Amino acid sequence: MPVGNKMFQGDFTEVSEMSNQSIINKRRMINGYDDGLLQASPLKHPWARDIFKGMQKNNWVAEEISFQKDKEQWENNDLTEQEKTCFLRALAFASNLDGLLVNSLSEVIKPHITSPETVLAVARQIYEECLHVDSYSCMVEAVGLEPEEVYGLYRKDKNLFYKNKRVLESMYQINRSDFSTKTPEGAKEFLEACSTNLIFEGVFFFSAFLVFYNFGRHNKMPGSKEMIQFINRDEDLHVRLFVNIINTIKDEQPEVWTPEVQAKIRQNIIDAVEMEIEWGQSCIGEGILGITPVMLKEYIEFIGDMRLESIGLGKTFNAQNPFPWLDEFTQNNMIETNFFEGTVREYQSGSLEW
Ligand SMILES: [Fe+2]
Ligand SMILES: [Fe+2]
Repeated sequence: MPVGNKMFQGDFTEVSEMSNQSIINKRRMINGYDDGLLQASPLKHPWARDIFKGMQKNNWVAEEISFQKDKEQWENNDLTEQEKTCFLRALAFASNLDGLLVNSLSEVIKPHITSPETVLAVARQIYEECLHVDSYSCMVEAVGLEPEEVYGLYRKDKNLFYKNKRVLESMYQINRSDFSTKTPEGAKEFLEACSTNLIFEGVFFFSAFLVFYNFGRHNKMPGSKEMIQFINRDEDLHVRLFVNIINTIKDEQPEVWTPEVQAKIRQNIIDAVEMEIEWGQSCIGEGILGITPVMLKEYIEFIGDMRLESIGLGKTFNAQNPFPWLDEFTQNNMIETNFFEGTVREYQSGSLEW
């Protein structure tokens, strides 16, 4: 019978000399000793458990959100045609991207991670991406949007088709049978795939988040705004998780963090910022409810700088955040937000109420 892990392909005498401590000492983010049994104690990467615990506090489901006002506003044409188009485009790409993340995290990223505590956090992240996918569909149904206009938009909109195509290609390039992180080239490619994930979650959602928050600021589509607050709070921890994964691989295998790899990842982030600006500007057109194309550009550049700095690559754009009002929606990683009628809050886990 084939056994998945090398450790169990040999016989008992090979492993009987090993101690738990010796296994932990060989533990790495990738290419570590891994028996496949997720022994998550003692911890080699304690930050991963902290993130996992943070995720456990962020429980929510789409049914907690009322989309009644959104439905009324949509049906009563409280939004202009331009606003409706902008809303649908922002929603289309955000929902496409969350769907893609469920698959890419499971198929491309998680199989190569050899840190049990990090696997737990990534597995929880996959669940949260499923939750996001589900929340979009609940919202589409509750507001009465036409699914074809959301999920089918990429089949009508050339920009969105090519954006999705590029995003998929960039993530799936390591998803091939001969790929291994064991070679220096493979480890470099995996590092790049992790930075691609950081781009997805840390750059590509941000014009959509901005659009939804801006509607909320003008008392439009309040349920959608609240749902995005929940999603954004989750995404903040996903970004933190991938920043830590990247920085840990850099520490554990400094030989793969070459000037060439740094230049490549820096360029990927710069290209992503440009793509996101182009996409965001195509959503808002000449401007919408106080957001101008110039302000959107500055905002996405500001986000790009944060991502570059987080993995030690230094700022490129030196842009300022032109939307200080966003703090009211995000409140330092969204942990305690009660804005308008919003009910995003920190959940206490561990209580059982039947
Ligand atoms: Fe997500
Ligand atoms: Fe995410």
